[in-house]
Amino acid sequence: MIAIPVFLQAIKVSFLMSNPKRYLVTSALPYANGLKHVGHLAGAYIPADIYVRYLRAQKRDVVFVCGSDEHGTAIPIQATKEGTTPRAIIDKYHEAMKQDFEDLNMSFDIYHRTSESIHHETAQEFFTYLHDRGELETKETEQYFDEEAKTFLADRYIKGTCPNCGSDRAFGDQCETCGRTLSPDELINPVSTLSGKAPIKKKTTHWYLPLGKHEQFLREWILDQHKDDWRTTVVGQCKSWIEGGLQSRAVTRDLDWGIKVPLKEAEGKVLYVWFDAPIGYISATNQWAIDNNKNWEPYWYDKDTKLVHFIGKDNIVFHCIIFPIMLKLHGNILPENVPANEFLNLEGDKMSTSRNWKLDMRDYINDFIKKENGGGQCVDMLRYYLTQIAPETKDSEFTWKGFQDAVNSELVSIFGNFVNRTFVLMHKLCNGKVPVFHNDKIDELDKQLISDIAAVKEKVETLLEQYKFREALFEVIDLSRKGNKYMQEKQPWIVAKTLAEKPADQQLIDNCLHLCLQLTANLAILVNPFLPNTAKKMLYLMKVVDKMLNWENAGKLKLLSPGYSLRAPELLFRKIEDSEISEQIEKLNAGLIKPEAITKMEEIKQPAGKAQIVYDDFAKLELKAATVTACEKVEKADKLLKLEVDLGTEKRTIVSGIAQHYKPEEMVGKQVIVVTNLAPRKMKGIESQGMILTAENSDGKLQLLKPENPVAPGSNVS
Ligand code: 2FM
Ligand code: ZN
Repeated sequence: MIAIPVFLQAIKVSFLMSNPKRYLVTSALPYANGLKHVGHLAGAYIPADIYVRYLRAQKRDVVFVCGSDEHGTAIPIQATKEGTTPRAIIDKYHEAMKQDFEDLNMSFDIYHRTSESIHHETAQEFFTYLHDRGELETKETEQYFDEEAKTFLADRYIKGTCPNCGSDRAFGDQCETCGRTLSPDELINPVSTLSGKAPIKKKTTHWYLPLGKHEQFLREWILDQHKDDWRTTVVGQCKSWIEGGLQSRAVTRDLDWGIKVPLKEAEGKVLYVWFDAPIGYISATNQWAIDNNKNWEPYWYDKDTKLVHFIGKDNIVFHCIIFPIMLKLHGNILPENVPANEFLNLEGDKMSTSRNWKLDMRDYINDFIKKENGGGQCVDMLRYYLTQIAPETKDSEFTWKGFQDAVNSELVSIFGNFVNRTFVLMHKLCNGKVPVFHNDKIDELDKQLISDIAAVKEKVETLLEQYKFREALFEVIDLSRKGNKYMQEKQPWIVAKTLAEKPADQQLIDNCLHLCLQLTANLAILVNPFLPNTAKKMLYLMKVVDKMLNWENAGKLKLLSPGYSLRAPELLFRKIEDSEISEQIEKLNAGLIKPEAITKMEEIKQPAGKAQIVYDDFAKLELKAATVTACEKVEKADKLLKLEVDLGTEKRTIVSGIAQHYKPEEMVGKQVIVVTNLAPRKMKGIESQGMILTAENSDGKLQLLKPENPVAPGSNVS
């Protein structure tokens, strides 16, 4: 295949939708069940924010919406874990996530929430619209029901043995050990996590969206129309869904947390979270319009609107297949693109909340942003690194060393250094004012730099229109690299040394610094979508207003007028010290929960009693049958007996709290069950080398546990 040159690709992209009248940009609504990590930030938020800032700089009509996803089983599960109500959970995490996004300068026009009544009404209207037009079908199926808790069980509330790897840490939706996606029916020995009992099967009716009916539409829309302008990873995933056979998807659930299904016959049922969540983009737009006295409808109905969803790859099927079918049936516009990112790993391993192997946005905010006056510099450092390693085409990796290198070797040493040198030299060699450019002294190096400045605008635009944020940012940094090289070749500080003999050479110095300053102004415009705080600081140094950041100014060479005096230099970025990096790595390792210590069961409701354990926990105990060979009271201890037990190959001393239940003479000759690998413990000065097992009656009387018939001392108990 012949590669299409970048400029032709640009023509193709703009041909598909050249200058739409307006844009609606969405970032995936995060679940309000916990803090989000930098992997989320890199996947669905920073790229969207860059894109939107770029569009705003172009003065396009754009609305950027996001908000908290507050339904689904994730919420009640978290509530149980924290011993509180679902409402308290969503209120807590909605506020926390909103604050984190603000601290990281995400420029949403609205950060909404799906628990708002406007959203409930919008989602119910959507359902009714599809239902009334016969676009949904009902099906009666048998689903797991917990008779004790009197409720149908969501997939996550059923646990059992994985049919794939045999682990008993499998849930009705996924095995926590091997990661395989499961359905509850596949689990071996399913148990309800609510009551700990085996669930029964019970009939229930649900409403389904028949995806298969829309296969032709999906084929044409994705596999033909968008096969070239959507990311190959996205088209690839869609293709395998379509070719794997599109099954009908239930859009309702038997759950008591969520949006009520607006049908009399659906009492006690709620909309499936993945039905209501994307509708959240619509209700958020509506709320934004109300707040700003605007009309929301063109953003969702007018064909001249470009809708773009930024998401992580785990959300592809919902945004490219299910939601578009819903939108089509409801008469809305379809997304023009869904630039889904792959995953971001951390220091060589998958980010994981349950293993605490992650970097929460909040942690970065506290450890870097809050410690710095204003914080903007640290926000931009993270934005820079996460864009530089964005997992656009494949999974990528966050390492603290990589972060340090990106900041120190690129932001500080290339971009920051260029701007700083320009300001220092302009103050030293041009009286702190923008020097005049002497056209008659223009040379080849100047011409080259001028053409580089002009070319970069177009390159960055093309790349941003194609959602290639990594490459676009590279072009901007590369332009500052060219600025450094230009200055290095011109060496105005050397020219300055011979000015006494050759005063006319001041013109050479002026030309060099004039161009470097115009380049600085260009860099501010070009870097603004990526590093908005840096752009702002550059405006401050240049003493110019925000208007200069209009995208149309990029590529121009008369942004700063000769004679204009500028501020004294200030560094744009600070270095990241080795100690900061090692602190973070230590913190990460210290917080790691080792896989064997994860008991996912603790994350969900437990039946009364101690936390559930897995077989591996039980298998750590060594239990043996033993025969008591001697027994006496322990002095000055009413409750203790000292026993001598025969374990076949050895004898042991055990101190046991059974003196009020058994007389010493009764004990001799009895068989008991001993925990033999318990660490020895001293009681009243006697070392107890094990523990004997008893059962407690309702009256508090202890009964020895023993084999039904005598067994050889030392026999294993399991
Ligand atoms: O995966 C998630 O975190 C979902 N809460 C994303 C929802 S995106 C949209 F559909 F709302
Ligand atoms: Zn498994």
